[in-house]
Amino acid sequence: MGVEGDPDVALLPRQVNTVGMRRALPVVGSVVVVCVVVATAVAGCGGGGSKGTNPRDPQVAMGAHLFVQFACSSCHGEQGKGGVSPDVPALKDVGKSLTVSQLNTIINHGLGESANPQKPYMPVWGPVISTSQVGDLVSYIRAGLPKVRDADPVPVPRDQGQAVAGAALYQRDGCINCHGPSGLGGVPNPLSEDKTIPPLSGQDFREEFNTDAKITEMIRSGSVIGKAPIASMPHWGGILSDEDLADLVAYLKTLK
Ligand code: HEC
Ligand code: HEC
Repeated sequence: MGVEGDPDVALLPRQVNTVGMRRALPVVGSVVVVCVVVATAVAGCGGGGSKGTNPRDPQVAMGAHLFVQFACSSCHGEQGKGGVSPDVPALKDVGKSLTVSQLNTIINHGLGESANPQKPYMPVWGPVISTSQVGDLVSYIRAGLPKVRDADPVPVPRDQGQAVAGAALYQRDGCINCHGPSGLGGVPNPLSEDKTIPPLSGQDFREEFNTDAKITEMIRSGSVIGKAPIASMPHWGGILSDEDLADLVAYLKTLK
């Protein structure tokens, strides 16, 4: 629950989330009352976890989670606030300036100079994201990209070795959506020559990408294998730091 519609209202302050509060949890009615009272007093009832509200519209809620899952937030910033790279626009105003059909087209077909090896472009998502998911993303963008509770990128542990950080980045930056869990591949890309997005594991991959530099360069520059509706490897230079790239490489080298 929480105060709907206002992105800044909703975190239950820690001191309220006490053992007494937890004991009250099974009695849903009384929790609601507690939250309403607390909400008026200190403006919020998040029940722990991350900040943010639960939107009334389930499509907006789903869109917020997909925005994180497909790493839109890695390039456009959390809640599309921008600030990641001068080449990637914030999305706060596009819900008003672009129509539903324009937004659908941009997400399905990509945008920008995919042929320029120096800059990130909007990837083609059509083969990877379902029509229903694109609809949820568009609802979320048109709702102004509110902060939704628990729609947060996975944390990246930086003090447990490079491969641990890389495993988290593989998820946070959405590699997993295109290359599959553990880099096993198999994600359809019907109009591409191979019909699938390549795995990042197995003998063929290891033979072709047999140095750290080759893997790093591929992630940094991306590789355009065709126009929409073919999904290509996005350009991550300017988005991922050298440290992120090194961690991803370390993780990929642990795979089968
Ligand atoms: C690898 C980085 C990257 C990722 C990931 C990414 N985008 Fe983009 N996106 C861009 C870039 C760069 C542009 C600007 C393209 C241009 O205009 O040249 C853009 C443009 C857009 C636009 C048009 C904005 C405008 O002002 O015209 C929308 C809408 C959008 N992206 C939505 C999304 C959504 C939704 C996701 C997740 C499914 C996503 N993007 C993931 C890089 C990215
Ligand atoms: C939108 C889908 C998509 C996303 C997201 C994506 N990739 Fe790719 N990736 C591809 C495609 C398609 C290729 C094949 C490019 C080619 O053959 O030239 C590829 C190729 C690669 C390759 C070279 C493998 C080969 O056999 O050609 C590496 C390494 C790689 N990606 C790593 C990553 C990492 C790391 C991430 C996350 C930061 C990532 N990719 C995110 C689609 C994607």
